Amino acid sequence: MNLKINSFGQYLSNYEESVTNPEEFWNGIAEHFTWKKRWDKTLSWEFKTPSIKWFEGGQLNITENLLDRHLPHRKDQIAFHWEPNDPNDSDSSITYQQLYHEVCKLSNALKSLGIEKGDRVCIYMPMVIESIVSILACARIGAVHSIVFAGFSSNALADRINDAEAKLIITADGLNRGGKQVDLKSMVDEALTSCNSIKHVITLDCIHANPSMTENRDVWYHEIIENQSLDCPAEAMNSEDLLFILYTSGSTGKPKGVVHTCGGYMIYTAYSFQNVFQYHEGDVFWCTADIGWITGHSYIVYGPLLSGATSVIFEGVPTYPDAGRFWQICDKFKVNQFYTAPTAIRALMACGLEPVEQYDLSSLKVIGSVGEPINEEAWNWYHKNIGKKKCPVVDTWWQTETGGIMLSGLGDHSPMNPTHAGYPLPGIQPVLLDSNGNEIVENGVEGYLCIKFPWPSMLRTTYGDHERCKNTYFSNYEGYYFTGDGAKRDETGMYRIIGRVDDVINVSGHRFGTAEIEDAINTNSNAIESAVVGYPHDIKGQGIYAYVVIDSSENSDTIKASLIDSVSDKIGRIAKPDKIQLVSGLPKTRSGKIMRRILRKIAEGEQQNFGDTSTLLDPEIVEQIVSNSIL
Ligand code: WT7
Repeated sequence: MNLKINSFGQYLSNYEESVTNPEEFWNGIAEHFTWKKRWDKTLSWEFKTPSIKWFEGGQLNITENLLDRHLPHRKDQIAFHWEPNDPNDSDSSITYQQLYHEVCKLSNALKSLGIEKGDRVCIYMPMVIESIVSILACARIGAVHSIVFAGFSSNALADRINDAEAKLIITADGLNRGGKQVDLKSMVDEALTSCNSIKHVITLDCIHANPSMTENRDVWYHEIIENQSLDCPAEAMNSEDLLFILYTSGSTGKPKGVVHTCGGYMIYTAYSFQNVFQYHEGDVFWCTADIGWITGHSYIVYGPLLSGATSVIFEGVPTYPDAGRFWQICDKFKVNQFYTAPTAIRALMACGLEPVEQYDLSSLKVIGSVGEPINEEAWNWYHKNIGKKKCPVVDTWWQTETGGIMLSGLGDHSPMNPTHAGYPLPGIQPVLLDSNGNEIVENGVEGYLCIKFPWPSMLRTTYGDHERCKNTYFSNYEGYYFTGDGAKRDETGMYRIIGRVDDVINVSGHRFGTAEIEDAINTNSNAIESAVVGYPHDIKGQGIYAYVVIDSSENSDTIKASLIDSVSDKIGRIAKPDKIQLVSGLPKTRSGKIMRRILRKIAEGEQQNFGDTSTLLDPEIVEQIVSNSIL
């Protein structure tokens, strides 16, 4: 089986093959990789418990596949061009050979600090090459990485460290983001006051912040890698051994640790990368995500490196020092495939064409979108002004849980339709279910998006709580993986994602549970009760609207500021509400359930049509909320 699909006809036949003979199909893909021991059984699965195993009996190390395997023929090829936050600072790059040595040195350093196969290592880092080295060093020695986005607060970091019982954390003294510096090390120090599992902290000197170092616990990155051997044997991992944990929000409770395993994740990230982006030898790929999210894991680190690609990694933000920054970087490195989020496109679209027109974007061949539905206006702007109408837009739908891209065009081989993610990749079997859980077979319909057959990079469990995995993803509709999204399938079979159907909101491509934000608000002593909903936001896709019942006679601006502080403190500034309405009560049913449907409508600007309100305990409250709503 060829890894690379070269035409739409080939896509159709490969798709057919992947559904009729999935095991043979994936065997054919897996054979392109280096295994220490070949697998005995391609797939065993059931979606009830659930239990999903790919390539059982096989042994591998993913870093051997993305480093050692390439060295004979691409040791001097650049793996990453690193572009700093400030364009006046110097950039740097790292070749495959250098990356190999850096990874081996840090692997040996981790071992010297007592890290063994199966131990969890937390990574809380800026967008620098050492972050990638850290990820790969864990994978090399079989430690399980758990990356926490550096925009999360120390409380959120502590929750994740404790859930994973991480033994070590790799961080930096601080980071640069736009015009700001963030002091990461003191956030770590604060988090560690409530974590017992961490034995050591490795700190990268990034901004010369001169942080405080705790004796016997803290070591400098540059000191600990000094004098380490340039080689480190790659640990033999079973296909189903854990590769990483990544925390993500759901409709209830604290974020859960999505678990991905070595074999299947390797196969699928490489396969999807090469096909969706139609990456060719010598191309320069750039994914603008942060490594703290799944997009960074799969399409900055694993997919591109497994494919022997050259990529760009960027420390900064799209609008610093000005709104031309992305396009300047595309021009500078002659980027061929560019992958970003609709929220960035909308923000840059609002800045007009002048910043775009200053740069030569003729190297671009494929431009991608990920993280949230892309509205038609943004799609058209992107296609016309960035892709110059010659680059296909790949609108890639997937999730932290799916590990890799599920629905998307394949470069210029697939038909495109603005706002439609498109067709499933080979091996992916999506279905739409009606509210009774029955599959809808015809086209031109809407339903709950589920997947009915396993694919290699799907989540295996939620860390430390398998029951939660079952309840969240496999219990709503028996026999199916439930995505949490609603979707429409058009007459040609293309999928269009409508959005989440659960209490998850997507703010600038960042995923939050409304309950999680409410919990953060409720820690504030002024708050008695709160309800958080999403509302349409021009740039962010969804904004956060919080209704808060308060117990205080203080000035309302002071209270609002302190509520925002509570959210920043518990989760991070990225989750702070855009609008806060202080209310005297929430609309509830007689049985005490908050009628969120009504609150959502009010946040959208609706004044009166709230549907069936017969179960409402106190209709008066609704009128009050409407008359004070923030538009
Ligand atoms: C949710 C997953 C995996 C990428 C980063 C987000 C939404 C993702 C699209 C798209 C419409 C999309 C869905 C999904 N989403 N991509 N192309 N079109 N919606 O990962 O944080 O796990 O969020 O993002 O609602 O369920 P995530």
